[in-house]
Amino acid sequence: MNITVLVSGGGSNLQALIDAIERGEINARINCVISDRPDVFALDRARKHGILPVCINKKGFVTQQDYEAELLSQLRQAETELLVLAGYLSILGTGIIKEYSNKIINIHPSLIPSFCGMGFYGKKVHKAAIEYGVKYSGATAHFVDEGADTGPIIMQEVVPIFPDDDADKLAARVLEVEHKLLPQSVKLFCENRLTIDGRIVRIHE
Ligand code: GRF
Repeated sequence: MNITVLVSGGGSNLQALIDAIERGEINARINCVISDRPDVFALDRARKHGILPVCINKKGFVTQQDYEAELLSQLRQAETELLVLAGYLSILGTGIIKEYSNKIINIHPSLIPSFCGMGFYGKKVHKAAIEYGVKYSGATAHFVDEGADTGPIIMQEVVPIFPDDDADKLAARVLEVEHKLLPQSVKLFCENRLTIDGRIVRIHE
């Protein structure tokens, strides 16, 4: 299974996926890591593991359409069979979502449908959860559809929120769960153990 990973930052989720593949837990190959901005540590992680690091800088394009056309061309060149969004902060256009329908997996640092959608990314997610007063948060791995964080849910895992939590403490606790759920979800996909029935993702033995 040829995987392309889209990133925007530190790449700790990318690293978790690289490590799982290198441990032999997932029968797949990351052909390419593409960032939407320059100089992100995720590209250094790719380089260190012999994975093609590509920057398609959104700021370098006049229109969203031009950016997507370049991204789609790179995805095809990498013979992408599964697209993984790992801390990727840009919106994917409908052209890419249609071409890779039910073949795009995202990791989001909350229990969707809470604290997700436009404007909910990174620390903002955890700040909103703490301010709302929820007692639990967590992470969600899901298929990407044309909405923002609205695709069918593959896996979720809960983490507690403690009275003295701040966004950094909660982010770290949720990140540990993200690093488990993303490789597990990719593994299930690569083993063809996922079917989608409307909104429901069924996991098969
Ligand atoms: C993670 O919380 C991820 O869910 C969010 O950005 C944070 C850092 O991700 N989108 P990474 O370390 O770049 O994978």
